[in-house]
Amino acid sequence: MKILVVGGGGREHAIIKSLKKNKSVEKIYALPGNGGIAADAECYPVKANDVDGVVAFAQTHPVDFAVVAPDDPLVLGCVDKLEELGIPCFGPRANAAIIEGSKVFSKNLMKKYGIPTAESETFSDAEEAIAYLKAHDFPAVIKADGLALGKGVIIAQNAEEAEKAVREIMCDKVFGASGNKILVEEFLTGPEVSVLSFIDGETVVPMVSSMDHKRAKDNDEGLNTGGMGTIAPNPYYTEAIAKECMERIFRPTVQAMKAEGRTFRGCLYFGLMLTPKGPKVIEYNCRFGDPETQVVLPLLESDLLEIMQAVQKGELKEDMVRFQDGCACCVVLASDGYPQAYKSGFEITLSQTAEDENVYIAGAKTEDGVLKTAGGRVLGAVKTAKTLKEAVDGAYALANRIHFENAYKRTDIGKRALACLQED
Ligand code: AMP
Ligand code: GLY
Repeated sequence: MKILVVGGGGREHAIIKSLKKNKSVEKIYALPGNGGIAADAECYPVKANDVDGVVAFAQTHPVDFAVVAPDDPLVLGCVDKLEELGIPCFGPRANAAIIEGSKVFSKNLMKKYGIPTAESETFSDAEEAIAYLKAHDFPAVIKADGLALGKGVIIAQNAEEAEKAVREIMCDKVFGASGNKILVEEFLTGPEVSVLSFIDGETVVPMVSSMDHKRAKDNDEGLNTGGMGTIAPNPYYTEAIAKECMERIFRPTVQAMKAEGRTFRGCLYFGLMLTPKGPKVIEYNCRFGDPETQVVLPLLESDLLEIMQAVQKGELKEDMVRFQDGCACCVVLASDGYPQAYKSGFEITLSQTAEDENVYIAGAKTEDGVLKTAGGRVLGAVKTAKTLKEAVDGAYALANRIHFENAYKRTDIGKRALACLQED
């Protein structure tokens, strides 16, 4: 089989490495992939959000199955267009990808179907939003409706910060048309859990839970990033909470999408907060998370391609998805300065890896046969082990064997999860 994977980050590298375990896979094309992914797939310089370019590639290459991984091409209808060519795809069509593409849509869906989430109001007028916020409790959460490169959520501590955020999003349009509407949300507290799930339109099978570390600096300080590291499973996510989420959030969401004529097939990412009043949805993503995928897929015992094909055909069964009992940790090595300005183009010296270690490359290019840094998040060092402590220590040991000038990492990935385990 020849498989097309759309995307080019650490998440896509993890997906590609998992797909390659299936013996029937002869070739994987990655659009655009990256200098590290090139060791595992044929990379072509077509940007993931260039849907016409992806379609043109698929028309001229033999593709038996496609996986569209990032949010933009999904929201732009990449799966719809590939399906028109007769290519079976893993990933939601545009009418279902809207669950991530519009936060106003997903909030209305949750309200209509009684799915627990933060209280909120929607605004399409900046002055009305500002007047409302003046009487609001703080902190208040302000969210741009559309995709905003993961930067569209602002937690305002007072009315002044709130007004500034509203003006930037709605008047200055810092996120373009994504800021035509905003949500003002109640501020929730509690541990956050990411649950990725396979959904074939009807059946939902959650994967092992995980915990992201979104802020750039230790102790959850500094700016928000795409994610500086992950651990799985998330110790806050107990069996009882998982059961509650299945009944009150996962199944109702799948049924709600079906009832709305927006059947969801693919990976749905539930961003949850375990509040004192129970689990609530913070966000839906219509795709695998990054870097959650880098800790979830190494723990998957079943065959990823077979699951993806079952999802695409609407034939997913719970027993098709098995995870090993162990734990995993991913430590991201970034270019110092990320998520703001940083230098790149430095040579990366990788290390040999053992069977329970993985290096997923996110931001790198190959120049004259030399792998060099070419992005904010450069790679993820991943270790799987029996215990979380071993996984965390092992991921740091691996990260310390990899070198490039300007490398930066958080030193406390997994610390909060380990503390939670000790409280038990
Ligand atoms: P998102 O871009 O939707 O992933 O949101 C970024 C981060 O903002 C989340 O991971 C949460 O930590 C935080 N956040 C979003 N919504 C809320 C909320 N209603 N209350 C508290 N924190 C929130
Ligand atoms: N790690 C968060 C995300 O993929 O959106």
